[in-house]
Amino acid sequence: MKRIVVTGKNGQLASELRIILKKEENFECFFLGRNEFPLEETKILHDVLGMYQPDIIIHTAAYTAVDQAEEELDAVNTINHLASEQIAEYCTLHNVKLIYISTDYVFDGTSEVPLTENIKTHPINAYGHSKHRGEIAVRHFAPRAIILRTSWVYSSFGNNFVKTMLHLMEEKKKLQVVADQWGLPTYARDLAQAISIILKADKWMPGIYHYANRGEGITWFDFASAIRDITKKEVQILPITTEEFVRPANRPKYSVLDSSKIQKTFNFEIPSWQKSLEEMLTLLKTTN
Ligand SMILES: NC(=O)c1ccc[n+]([C@@H]2O[C@H](COP(=O)([O-])OP(=O)(O)OC[C@H]3O[C@@H](n4cnc5c(N)ncnc54)[C@H](OP(=O)(O)O)[C@@H]3O)[C@@H](O)[C@H]2O)c1
Repeated sequence: MKRIVVTGKNGQLASELRIILKKEENFECFFLGRNEFPLEETKILHDVLGMYQPDIIIHTAAYTAVDQAEEELDAVNTINHLASEQIAEYCTLHNVKLIYISTDYVFDGTSEVPLTENIKTHPINAYGHSKHRGEIAVRHFAPRAIILRTSWVYSSFGNNFVKTMLHLMEEKKKLQVVADQWGLPTYARDLAQAISIILKADKWMPGIYHYANRGEGITWFDFASAIRDITKKEVQILPITTEEFVRPANRPKYSVLDSSKIQKTFNFEIPSWQKSLEEMLTLLKTTN
């Protein structure tokens, strides 16, 4: 029986992991939230982890409020960088395997081709910097860790773009959505499934991997349009530019992740973003 600690228990990804890992008889999982495992209290993290004696840690918890992060530089650095450093150090000291969840926001968005794992990182906002520093700390303190970079995460749990759009589509006849930022959505349930495959693989294969749903890169406008088309909402969606939708934090213009490496290494196929979006929307409809 493997003991697995999952941080960020109420987050989108951890909530999906709870569903996926429940099906596995060989895993005993402990989901830790803010109360049990407050990341800003970096000095107590080793002691808390010691109480659970994990074989594996899946570190999903993070300060994820991208705009607010611009105003809270110390908090975002402590939570995303310094706490990750502590967790990584614990893992090496106690021979624990670590999966650190990272982000497409470690890139600056200047690439014109899908981003492979060896493309140079260069974050352009405070959140991206903090997650990037977290990655560097993890690579330094736990060189055998797996770093999983993902993008545009959504789920039936928590708050995300899909749920915000559904809400706005109920209220408005017209919506303006940014049409010059390119990426790929990730259904957190699919990512949780991929993590389960990694955990069950014969061999632990450390390194950086990218994971987003399969497809050509799309814009937020395309994503919103697909949500409208699937749900048959009567709303007009108008494309706007990044400059027209001013936000505190810079966003990468292009952060389409190339997920070939994870598929080849662990021998599985990632579902298309369209199929997964339909699946999540069907689930939302049947549970609401
Ligand atoms: N969401 C995205 O679009 C996206 C894109 C790329 C990468 N990622 C990365 O993917 C991972 C999972 O994302 P997600 O969407 O599941 O995130 P999420 O839904 O925002 O959940 C993050 C979790 O972290 C917890 N947390 C925040 N500050 C904490 C603190 N100081 N101490 C302890 N726990 C704290 C939150 O607790 P509360 O519930 O108590 O607030 C929350 O449960 C994160 O590492 C994120 O950086 C996300």
